[in-house]
Amino acid sequence: MRELLACNLYTIIILPYVLAYTQFIQRDTGVFLAMAQIKNIGLYTSGGDAPGMNAAIRAVVRTALYYDIEVTGILRGYHGMIRGEFMPMERKSVSNIVQRGGTILKTARSDQFRTSEGRKKAYEQLKASNIDALIGIGGNGTFAGARAFGDEYPDIPVLGLPGTIDNDLAGTDFTIGYDTAINTVVNAVDKIRDTAESHDRLFIVEVMGRDSGLIALRTGIAAGAECILIPENKDGMASLFDRLENGRKDKTSRIVIAAEGDDAGGAFEIGRLVTEKFPHYDTRVSILGHIQRGGKPTCMDRVLASRVGVAAVEALRDGRKGEMVGVIHNEIAYTPFEQSIKHNAEINANFLKIVEILSL
Ligand code: F6P
Repeated sequence: MRELLACNLYTIIILPYVLAYTQFIQRDTGVFLAMAQIKNIGLYTSGGDAPGMNAAIRAVVRTALYYDIEVTGILRGYHGMIRGEFMPMERKSVSNIVQRGGTILKTARSDQFRTSEGRKKAYEQLKASNIDALIGIGGNGTFAGARAFGDEYPDIPVLGLPGTIDNDLAGTDFTIGYDTAINTVVNAVDKIRDTAESHDRLFIVEVMGRDSGLIALRTGIAAGAECILIPENKDGMASLFDRLENGRKDKTSRIVIAAEGDDAGGAFEIGRLVTEKFPHYDTRVSILGHIQRGGKPTCMDRVLASRVGVAAVEALRDGRKGEMVGVIHNEIAYTPFEQSIKHNAEINANFLKIVEILSL
């Protein structure tokens, strides 16, 4: 009888306190957040847009609905978060977008969100709209913001999806948009090759990548470039000069691919230096620019976006936060924001060697 009474006492009086305390710990650390049910995910795209972002938006919305979670679209990234530019998203809001470039949620870069006052305003807007978790799609800047916000407001878990054409995030083999962008570049350079070949010209083609040469590196191999100039390799200009000086003289066209962030100072400056030193080459410059960010996402980008979109919603339900959801060796991988944004400046040196060998 006494045991029965003690048991009832425990159930009625002590157990609710134990549960409440556990919830508190869970909310605070995020480790077991799964028990604190996510009801409304705020979804945003931020920084430079990338083809496949729409496929990721679709994946997040549809997966959330599948698990009975609401989704609120946040327009223009952090800029809109601070201003409360929110819209409810339904199944139909993401119909017919899997094949579209750009982002239906629009995007922006926000200086205000870099300040704690800006992030406080954003937090208040989210709370006022009952948003209790966030998924942000973007690159370095997006995750730096997400990290700062997550540190200050741990009660709103944030996860990130890698969306940038630059492919410069640690924690995923490829970012959403990279495959489409490099295919756009290769198609454009193939066209440039036609005219270069017809006129016996040398073309300096500038591709995107302010801090990263990964677009230049792959497209240079695929388009049969003579030489590749990237920010990660400081010998680019010297090897180009060496190539033009000592390389085969019977070539009828030459393509040099330069990343916009290369130390030489951009394609026009490279073109000027080449013309100065080698006036007998008929040199032209072509800057591909923002066409690299647009267009229909490739199958690879749509599949990557769909996989990480589904995984992110499931990860929030599992209590994960403060991480980017990527794919490494074909498996879903979670990487803390602070690691994902460490720009991986290590370039596969073998890729540069491949260019040298194949452009013989
Ligand atoms: O980060 C993606 C990217 O396309 C970079 O490759 C490029 O340097 C930058 O964005 C250009 O940004 P914006 O569109 O603001 O000029």
